Amino acid sequence: MTSWLANSNQPLQGELRVPGDKSVSHRAVMLGALAEGTTHVHGFLEGEDTRATARVFEAMGVRIETPSASERIVHGVGLHGLKTPTGDLDCGNAGTGMRLLSGVLAGQGFDSVLVGDASLSKRPMRRVIDPLSMMGALIEPEPGGLPPLRINGRKGLQGIDFKSPVASAQVKSAVLLAGLYARGETTVTEPHPTRDYTERMLAAFGWPIEFQPGFARLSGGHVLRGGEVAVPTDFSSAAFFLVAASIVPGSELRLRAVGMNPRRTGLLAVLRLMGADIREERASGQSGSEHGAEPVADLVVRHAPLHGIEVPEALVPDMIDEFPALFVAAACAQGRTVVSGAAELRIKESDRIATMAAGLKALGVDITEMPDGAVIEGGRARLPFRGGSVDSHGDHRIAMSFAVAAQRAEGEVLIEDVANVATSFPGFVELATGAGMGLIDA
Ligand code: S3P
Repeated sequence: MTSWLANSNQPLQGELRVPGDKSVSHRAVMLGALAEGTTHVHGFLEGEDTRATARVFEAMGVRIETPSASERIVHGVGLHGLKTPTGDLDCGNAGTGMRLLSGVLAGQGFDSVLVGDASLSKRPMRRVIDPLSMMGALIEPEPGGLPPLRINGRKGLQGIDFKSPVASAQVKSAVLLAGLYARGETTVTEPHPTRDYTERMLAAFGWPIEFQPGFARLSGGHVLRGGEVAVPTDFSSAAFFLVAASIVPGSELRLRAVGMNPRRTGLLAVLRLMGADIREERASGQSGSEHGAEPVADLVVRHAPLHGIEVPEALVPDMIDEFPALFVAAACAQGRTVVSGAAELRIKESDRIATMAAGLKALGVDITEMPDGAVIEGGRARLPFRGGSVDSHGDHRIAMSFAVAAQRAEGEVLIEDVANVATSFPGFVELATGAGMGLIDA
């Protein structure tokens, strides 16, 4: 099992650019495959998760070229051009891959089986099976609504008016993608707005869709047209550096061209409420982005003393992947930070409330778990963390968050089970050490 040894207490400095956005990369391959014509994807995330999605479409007869790293040319086969796969379709570690694919595959005229790794095989799929079944899909999970998913192909989905009980972009997207194949209209209403990449990209590929925060409506029977997709960099990957530079005295980092979709930048708002010094420069719509323009900006972050806050529940969906990093910032802040309304964290790549609480306790932090969040008492001492050993339970964002925490620890931190960092952030160690973080393979 791969582990890291981390520690430094040296300032972070310089400029860096994090890899492409995971959510956008998944969708670019999916819509590119289902489009007429070719789709040229720039800035594709070379992560295990997004590569798994590309392999799934290759297994269904889609030709995907890799002219250079972070570039893909997807030769679309059209909405009804996928071929029957000969084996199971492996989504690896990717919940996004499996949930969005279940919507696509429910609309095909062939049967398929979606499988995943040990972590994905424990993640709930009822949340997509239920609405897709209402549309007429036939999907058989394992007991408990878990993967593998056996999807019985049948043409004949019917549009639905779905009021989603959870704020989940994956659920919304699965229903909308099935809606491409459905008779009539499909609408999704969310309890809180979530990331809208599926809606934006469908519109960019020429599919008529009406959407606003928390709502989307489309009808079946149109055509997707391929083109250029410029993937922005991933705010969730930038997040580790926003926290690292904020908590280590003397730090100043410039993160270049960070994706700034407002449904993703909740952590920025929360860090600023805690006193962080983060400037946005050179904000723009992304250049050359014929298909799915996303806002980007350089973020310049300097160390600043942080104080604890009650995280506004309204911001939770806009920072759903950033809580492990936020917990680290909270441990370094003066006073108490309270997180609530975030029960979804318990069903991510690991139970992120339990995994973070166990690791932070091992490093001497006073944290109390709640069913839907945690209470963290920050500012233990000049150095907020002790040295020690933490288990990331194969969760990429937990591993990277503890690498950040270790930069303010009294002694070395051993972080176990870190191989899955490659699912979302290939090259993390090189970028982090280049910026001054102390981090080596153990
Ligand atoms: C994602 C949606 C979120 C997020 C995940 C990516 C997406 O999941 O946590 O990393 O690309 O749609 P939920 O929809 O389960 O909240």
